[in-house]
Amino acid sequence: MLPPIFFLNTMTLSINEIANLTQTAIHAARLGGAILQDYAKKGFTIHSKGQAINLVTEADLRSEEAIIQSIRNTFPEHQILSEEQGLQDIPQHPIKWIIDPLDGTINFAHGFPMYNVSIGVEYQGTCVIGVIYDPTRDELFLGQQGHGATLNGTPIQVSTTPKLAEALLVTGFAYDIHTATDNNLKEFCAFTLRARGMRRTGTAAIDLCYIASGRFDGFWELQLNPWDTAAGKVIVEEAGGTVTNYAEEPYSIYDKTILATNGLIHQEMAEVLRLRESKSPS
Ligand code: IPD
Ligand code: CA
Ligand code: CA
Repeated sequence: MLPPIFFLNTMTLSINEIANLTQTAIHAARLGGAILQDYAKKGFTIHSKGQAINLVTEADLRSEEAIIQSIRNTFPEHQILSEEQGLQDIPQHPIKWIIDPLDGTINFAHGFPMYNVSIGVEYQGTCVIGVIYDPTRDELFLGQQGHGATLNGTPIQVSTTPKLAEALLVTGFAYDIHTATDNNLKEFCAFTLRARGMRRTGTAAIDLCYIASGRFDGFWELQLNPWDTAAGKVIVEEAGGTVTNYAEEPYSIYDKTILATNGLIHQEMAEVLRLRESKSPS
């Protein structure tokens, strides 16, 4: 008999259960991705979610409906948390699906081809499977706790960049940037003056996948939500990266700060983030 993979509290998930969860997540992510591409071609309506820069499109909503339906067809008893619909009214269950049906909505709304579907599976409070599908590049990132991370089936690893001065970094900004005082601009300036390069993709899930695959070396952001990071956290950790909050404690997807790196530059980045308490950006 094959051994169980995860040993969490008193319950375990078997290899078969992991395989079924993973296949369901991949199928749902590809389904959502196809819907996004369909809307990208034919056009879509856009609404604001309160602030003018916080958008939701028809594609977010239709992708979300299809993903949820697809998961429910296989696992009707599982809990589901998704960005636009929130937590489904389903009784407590050890497995929770955490879904962003379109990460990178502003990119999508502007026709900038960098967006994705992100699906994480939490088991008894721990993220154990992450699937992120970028339909614009047909890139599917997968992380399974204890079993590594892959890109389109090929194993991936974080970079070996040894120091901040040689690093390519990425970050993002929350939707309250126009009004919040803690708006990440001080940190952005500080890192820009210390790193080799700085990018802003507009999708946190891709930022995490690119840390996992060595395309970026370090990522930090404030005010993300569980659906932004549930899948990416598993993918980065399984690719050998380090994910903490700014206080360098193990990252929970319910934390409000995240620092994800190749591990080698983690300390240096954490030191710079401590400067956010001070007045000067450099
Ligand atoms: C956003 C993106 C962006 C990040 C924002 C997120 P959405 O998600 O991940 O990169 O900076 O904080 O809210 O709204 O496009 O799903
Ligand atoms: Ca998001
Ligand atoms: Ca979203």
